[in-house]
Amino acid sequence: MDLASTRKDFPILNKKIEGKIVTYFDNAATSLKPIQVVDAEKKYYETECANVHRGLHLLSESASRVYEQSHEVVAKFVGAKKEEVCFVKNTTEGLNLVMYSLLNSNYFKKGDKIVISALEHHSNIVPWQYLSKKIGTKLEFVELTDNFEIDMNDFEKKVEGAKLVSFSGASNTVATIPDIRAIEKKAHKEGALFCVDGAQMVPHKKINFREMNADFFAFSGHKMLAPTGTGALVAKKELLQKLEPFLFGGDMIMEVKRESSSWNELPYKYEAGTPNIAGAYGMIEAIKYLEKIGLNNIEKHEQVLTKQTLDLLHEMKEIEVFCPKDVKKQGGIVLFGSKKMSSHDIAMALSENEGVCIRSGMHCAEPLVSSLNKDGLARASFYFYNTSEEVEKFVKALKEVISIFG
Ligand SMILES: Cc1ncc(COP(=O)(O)O)c(C=O)c1O
Repeated sequence: MDLASTRKDFPILNKKIEGKIVTYFDNAATSLKPIQVVDAEKKYYETECANVHRGLHLLSESASRVYEQSHEVVAKFVGAKKEEVCFVKNTTEGLNLVMYSLLNSNYFKKGDKIVISALEHHSNIVPWQYLSKKIGTKLEFVELTDNFEIDMNDFEKKVEGAKLVSFSGASNTVATIPDIRAIEKKAHKEGALFCVDGAQMVPHKKINFREMNADFFAFSGHKMLAPTGTGALVAKKELLQKLEPFLFGGDMIMEVKRESSSWNELPYKYEAGTPNIAGAYGMIEAIKYLEKIGLNNIEKHEQVLTKQTLDLLHEMKEIEVFCPKDVKKQGGIVLFGSKKMSSHDIAMALSENEGVCIRSGMHCAEPLVSSLNKDGLARASFYFYNTSEEVEKFVKALKEVISIFG
């Protein structure tokens, strides 16, 4: 990977912001966007701006063509069929789509069990809590081992009789990568539907939806170079055919009569209203970019940076790190805390002093993070455009901040 020329594509990395060169280590929140993605959105607004699937004029036709092509590109990227890729605005909407479609289709009844894990993001907790409140389903959390891995013994007990198992494919906090294949097999053996939150997976690792054998798979475009407001809920075709939609209105219909309507073909049955068309243009370029770099190269590069960071942080006695012992079991995220300073103070000082951008607090995973530190933790998260020199700069800045303020 030619890092120097890659970094030229990311304008934020190449100019001073408030007098500082930015070191962007908040990639788990959202990735930076390369100029190719920004230009694709600009192209739509400047030369092809029209609504999709609504007009026969030349602008609408070309926008519709690109919008549909974007579904094909995403489908090929994750090893699914085009009809299985429903565009949504993010992972959160994807998981809500799953919850509401199952609810609208009367899949659950009172007392049915839904199993998630203790490391889930709020977007894979709160929809299921809402369902419990609404119809009385039971939500069970599978605990973690001391090494922040899924406790598979606990899972085996809790999965018994489950109607739905919904797990994150990679944690956004403790960075664990659960054994999704093993979890899928047990979930399906119990006759449960299996849903994967792929928000921290798809940007960093080659995924094949067919091989994963999930029933539902949600991810966000904005964490993988694409614009904000893009994402997909990928689901098995036979389920999408059978289930009721979540949102109702224009474009998701085939025919509307005064008394009733019929639904559009897949995937548009699940895409009501005017979608993020510019975002779909950007998504094509984002995937092109990721494929040019190569997902295997991305994964390897992040492992190197993660190991380097962990080695350096382990030398600092003021810092406690929260992640699995073996770096191969985790993604490119390092969650840490200091006995001397709050995570918010660390993040603010790193940004103000050196332009190092990390995240602090609960990371939208409050049940887990508050159990590790009631005031929250700091998180550095990497992407392929980050460098070893940036890791050194971050650790040096962290040492300074702790020695001055701690
Ligand atoms: C594991 C995980 N799931 C879900 C989400 C929600 O993503 P979004 O905010 O794009 O809906 C995130 C975002 O950080 C995440 O890390």
